[in-house]
Amino acid sequence: MKDVEEAKREAASVALDLVRPGMRLGLGSGSTAAHFVALLGVRVAQGLDVLCVPSSESTRAQAAALAIPLATLDDVVELDLTIDGADEFDPKLRLIKGGGGALLREKIVAAASRRMVVIADSSKAVQTLGRFPLPVEVERFGFETTRRHIMREAEAAGCKGTIDLRRKADIFVTDGGNYILDCAFGTIPEPEELAARLNAIPGVVEHGLFIGLAQAVIVAGPKGIEVHGSLAYV
Ligand code: 5RP
Repeated sequence: MKDVEEAKREAASVALDLVRPGMRLGLGSGSTAAHFVALLGVRVAQGLDVLCVPSSESTRAQAAALAIPLATLDDVVELDLTIDGADEFDPKLRLIKGGGGALLREKIVAAASRRMVVIADSSKAVQTLGRFPLPVEVERFGFETTRRHIMREAEAAGCKGTIDLRRKADIFVTDGGNYILDCAFGTIPEPEELAARLNAIPGVVEHGLFIGLAQAVIVAGPKGIEVHGSLAYV
Protein backbone atom coordinates (compact mmCIF):
# COMPACT_ATOMS: atom_id res chain seq x y z
CA MET A 1 0.00 0.00 0.00
CA LYS A 2 1.14 3.46 -0.93
CA ASP A 3 2.33 5.53 1.99
CA VAL A 4 1.02 9.05 2.56
CA GLU A 5 4.29 10.79 1.74
CA GLU A 6 4.52 8.81 -1.49
CA ALA A 7 0.96 9.91 -2.38
CA LYS A 8 1.76 13.56 -1.64
CA ARG A 9 4.87 13.36 -3.81
CA GLU A 10 2.89 11.76 -6.63
CA ALA A 11 0.32 14.58 -6.58
CA ALA A 12 3.18 17.10 -6.54
CA SER A 13 4.79 15.48 -9.53
CA VAL A 14 1.56 15.72 -11.57
CA ALA A 15 1.36 19.41 -10.65
CA LEU A 16 4.94 19.89 -11.85
CA ASP A 17 3.77 19.02 -15.38
CA LEU A 18 1.65 22.22 -15.32
CA VAL A 19 4.75 24.38 -14.98
CA ARG A 20 6.01 26.06 -18.15
CA PRO A 21 9.25 28.03 -18.72
CA GLY A 22 8.89 31.69 -17.83
CA MET A 23 6.02 31.17 -15.40
CA ARG A 24 5.61 33.18 -12.22
CA LEU A 25 4.62 30.68 -9.57
CA GLY A 26 3.12 30.86 -6.11
CA LEU A 27 4.60 28.27 -3.76
CA GLY A 28 2.36 26.87 -1.05
CA SER A 29 3.28 25.71 2.43
CA GLY A 30 3.13 22.44 4.33
CA SER A 31 4.46 18.96 3.72
CA THR A 32 2.68 18.35 0.39
CA ALA A 33 3.75 21.71 -1.01
CA ALA A 34 7.29 20.91 0.20
CA HIS A 35 7.33 17.89 -2.13
CA PHE A 36 6.41 20.20 -5.01
CA VAL A 37 9.15 22.67 -4.09
CA ALA A 38 11.69 19.83 -3.89
CA LEU A 39 10.73 18.53 -7.35
CA LEU A 40 10.71 22.06 -8.76
CA GLY A 41 14.21 22.56 -7.37
CA VAL A 42 15.44 19.62 -9.44
CA ARG A 43 13.93 21.15 -12.60
CA VAL A 44 15.42 24.54 -11.83
CA ALA A 45 18.84 22.92 -11.38
CA GLN A 46 18.33 21.42 -14.85
CA GLY A 47 17.75 24.90 -16.29
CA LEU A 48 14.00 25.59 -15.94
CA ASP A 49 13.38 29.35 -15.83
CA VAL A 50 10.68 30.32 -13.30
CA LEU A 51 10.19 33.07 -10.75
CA CYS A 52 8.50 32.09 -7.49
CA VAL A 53 6.71 33.79 -4.63
CA PRO A 54 6.72 31.69 -1.44
CA SER A 55 3.71 31.76 0.90
CA SER A 56 5.66 31.31 4.15
CA GLU A 57 9.09 31.80 5.65
CA SER A 58 9.61 28.03 5.79
CA THR A 59 8.84 27.66 2.07
CA ARG A 60 11.09 30.64 1.36
CA ALA A 61 13.95 28.91 3.22
CA GLN A 62 13.40 25.60 1.40
CA ALA A 63 13.20 27.27 -2.03
CA ALA A 64 16.23 29.48 -1.36
CA ALA A 65 18.28 26.43 -0.33
CA LEU A 66 17.40 24.87 -3.70
CA ALA A 67 18.43 28.06 -5.55
CA ILE A 68 14.90 28.58 -6.91
CA PRO A 69 14.64 32.22 -8.09
CA LEU A 70 12.43 34.11 -5.63
CA ALA A 71 10.48 37.34 -5.68
CA THR A 72 7.90 39.04 -3.50
CA LEU A 73 4.37 40.05 -4.47
CA ASP A 74 5.63 43.63 -4.50
CA ASP A 75 7.95 42.70 -7.39
CA VAL A 76 5.49 40.42 -9.22
CA VAL A 77 1.91 41.47 -8.62
CA GLU A 78 0.25 38.74 -10.69
CA LEU A 79 1.16 35.06 -10.73
CA ASP A 80 0.42 32.46 -13.41
CA LEU A 81 -0.08 29.49 -11.13
CA THR A 82 -0.02 28.63 -7.44
CA ILE A 83 0.45 25.07 -6.22
CA ASP A 84 -0.49 24.49 -2.60
CA GLY A 85 -1.70 21.78 -0.22
CA ALA A 86 -4.90 21.79 1.85
CA ASP A 87 -6.20 20.35 5.08
CA GLU A 88 -9.57 19.50 3.53
CA PHE A 89 -11.40 19.93 0.25
CA ASP A 90 -15.04 19.29 -0.58
CA PRO A 91 -16.80 18.41 -3.87
CA LYS A 92 -17.17 22.14 -4.70
CA LEU A 93 -13.38 22.58 -4.30
CA ARG A 94 -13.88 24.67 -1.18
CA LEU A 95 -10.89 24.26 1.12
CA ILE A 96 -9.82 24.44 4.71
CA LYS A 97 -6.23 25.60 4.96
CA GLY A 98 -3.95 26.87 7.68
CA GLY A 99 -2.99 23.69 9.50
CA GLY A 100 0.59 24.90 9.17
CA GLY A 101 -0.39 28.45 10.14
CA ALA A 102 0.41 30.05 6.78
CA LEU A 103 -3.16 30.75 5.68
CA LEU A 104 -2.89 34.55 5.40
CA ARG A 105 0.01 34.61 2.95
CA GLU A 106 -1.33 31.49 1.24
CA LYS A 107 -4.63 33.25 0.56
CA ILE A 108 -2.93 36.43 -0.65
CA VAL A 109 -0.71 34.41 -2.99
CA ALA A 110 -3.63 32.27 -4.26
CA ALA A 111 -5.76 35.37 -4.87
CA ALA A 112 -2.91 36.93 -6.86
CA SER A 113 -2.77 33.88 -9.15
CA ARG A 114 -4.62 33.23 -12.38
CA ARG A 115 -4.86 29.58 -11.29
CA MET A 116 -4.58 27.81 -7.95
CA VAL A 117 -4.13 24.04 -8.11
CA VAL A 118 -4.24 22.05 -4.89
CA ILE A 119 -2.24 18.88 -4.33
CA ALA A 120 -3.36 16.38 -1.70
CA ASP A 121 -3.48 12.79 -0.60
CA SER A 122 -6.94 11.23 -0.52
CA SER A 123 -7.33 11.65 3.27
CA LYS A 124 -8.05 15.34 2.63
CA ALA A 125 -11.30 14.70 0.72
CA VAL A 126 -14.53 15.34 2.68
CA GLN A 127 -18.20 15.67 1.79
CA THR A 128 -18.68 18.50 4.30
CA LEU A 129 -15.92 20.80 5.51
CA GLY A 130 -15.20 21.04 9.22
CA ARG A 131 -13.72 17.76 10.37
CA PHE A 132 -10.37 19.58 10.40
CA PRO A 133 -10.52 22.46 12.91
CA LEU A 134 -10.84 25.71 10.96
CA PRO A 135 -7.83 27.97 11.61
CA VAL A 136 -8.63 31.66 12.05
CA GLU A 137 -5.73 34.10 12.20
CA VAL A 138 -6.40 36.92 14.66
CA GLU A 139 -4.73 40.09 15.84
CA ARG A 140 -3.11 39.53 19.25
CA PHE A 141 -4.76 42.63 20.73
CA GLY A 142 -8.07 41.59 22.23
CA PHE A 143 -7.89 38.02 20.94
CA GLU A 144 -10.12 36.71 23.73
CA THR A 145 -12.84 39.18 22.74
CA THR A 146 -12.36 38.16 19.12
CA ARG A 147 -12.65 34.50 20.13
CA ARG A 148 -16.05 35.16 21.75
CA HIS A 149 -17.17 37.16 18.73
CA ILE A 150 -16.18 34.27 16.43
CA MET A 151 -18.15 31.85 18.64
CA ARG A 152 -21.32 33.98 18.34
CA GLU A 153 -21.03 34.43 14.57
CA ALA A 154 -20.20 30.75 14.06
CA GLU A 155 -23.31 29.73 15.99
CA ALA A 156 -25.38 32.04 13.80
CA ALA A 157 -23.92 30.22 10.78
CA GLY A 158 -24.89 26.82 12.23
CA CYS A 159 -21.48 25.88 13.66
CA LYS A 160 -20.90 24.80 17.23
CA GLY A 161 -17.74 23.61 18.94
CA THR A 162 -14.64 24.66 20.78
CA ILE A 163 -12.29 27.46 19.77
CA ASP A 164 -8.75 27.11 21.07
CA LEU A 165 -5.70 29.30 20.88
CA ARG A 166 -3.05 27.37 18.95
CA ARG A 167 0.02 26.46 20.98
CA LYS A 168 3.20 24.60 20.11
CA ALA A 169 5.60 24.71 23.09
CA ASP A 170 4.35 28.26 23.56
CA ILE A 171 1.59 30.27 21.87
CA PHE A 172 1.95 29.81 18.10
CA VAL A 173 2.75 33.04 16.25
CA THR A 174 2.28 33.31 12.48
CA ASP A 175 4.75 34.79 9.99
CA GLY A 176 2.66 37.96 10.22
CA GLY A 177 3.00 38.10 14.02
CA ASN A 178 -0.60 37.08 14.76
CA TYR A 179 -2.27 34.29 16.74
CA ILE A 180 -4.30 31.36 15.39
CA LEU A 181 -7.63 30.23 16.85
CA ASP A 182 -8.50 26.65 15.88
CA CYS A 183 -12.27 26.23 15.57
CA ALA A 184 -13.32 22.59 16.03
CA PHE A 185 -16.82 22.67 14.55
CA GLY A 186 -17.03 19.10 13.22
CA THR A 187 -19.12 20.28 10.28
CA ILE A 188 -19.52 23.62 8.56
CA PRO A 189 -22.96 23.44 6.90
CA GLU A 190 -22.72 26.82 5.10
CA PRO A 191 -19.08 27.68 4.40
CA GLU A 192 -19.94 30.85 2.44
CA GLU A 193 -22.06 32.20 5.27
CA LEU A 194 -19.43 31.42 7.88
CA ALA A 195 -16.73 33.03 5.71
CA ALA A 196 -18.80 36.20 5.31
CA ARG A 197 -19.47 36.40 9.05
CA LEU A 198 -15.79 35.84 9.92
CA ASN A 199 -14.71 38.49 7.40
CA ALA A 200 -16.83 41.05 9.23
CA ILE A 201 -15.31 40.53 12.71
CA PRO A 202 -12.82 43.17 13.88
CA GLY A 203 -9.68 41.35 14.98
CA VAL A 204 -10.01 38.55 12.44
CA VAL A 205 -7.06 38.95 10.10
CA GLU A 206 -7.99 36.00 7.84
CA HIS A 207 -9.61 32.60 8.02
CA GLY A 208 -8.77 29.25 6.49
CA LEU A 209 -11.88 28.89 4.31
CA PHE A 210 -10.67 29.16 0.71
CA ILE A 211 -13.78 29.51 -1.42
CA GLY A 212 -13.72 30.06 -5.17
CA LEU A 213 -9.93 30.03 -5.29
CA ALA A 214 -8.97 26.47 -6.30
CA GLN A 215 -9.44 25.63 -9.96
CA ALA A 216 -8.51 21.98 -9.44
CA VAL A 217 -7.41 19.48 -6.83
CA ILE A 218 -4.94 16.75 -7.77
CA VAL A 219 -5.52 13.86 -5.38
CA ALA A 220 -3.25 10.87 -5.00
CA GLY A 221 -4.81 7.82 -3.39
CA PRO A 222 -4.76 4.04 -3.42
CA LYS A 223 -6.33 3.98 -6.90
CA GLY A 224 -3.83 6.43 -8.36
CA ILE A 225 -4.32 10.05 -9.40
CA GLU A 226 -7.73 11.73 -9.61
CA VAL A 227 -8.26 15.29 -10.75
CA HIS A 228 -11.22 17.25 -9.40
CA GLY A 229 -12.00 20.38 -11.40
CA SER A 230 -10.03 21.36 -14.48
CA LEU A 231 -6.31 21.63 -15.11
CA ALA A 232 -6.91 23.54 -18.36
CA TYR A 233 -5.28 26.93 -18.82
CA VAL A 234 -7.72 29.81 -18.40
C1 5RP B 1 -0.46 25.45 5.78
C2 5RP B 1 -1.49 24.78 4.93
C3 5RP B 1 -1.13 23.46 4.35
O1 5RP B 1 -1.29 23.51 2.97
C4 5RP B 1 -2.05 22.44 4.93
O2 5RP B 1 -1.94 22.48 6.34
C5 5RP B 1 -1.73 21.04 4.42
O3 5RP B 1 -0.50 20.65 4.95
P1 5RP B 1 0.14 19.24 4.62
O4 5RP B 1 0.44 19.22 3.16
O5 5RP B 1 1.37 19.19 5.47
O6 5RP B 1 -0.87 18.19 5.01
O7 5RP B 1 -2.57 25.25 4.72
O8 5RP B 1 -0.95 26.63 6.32
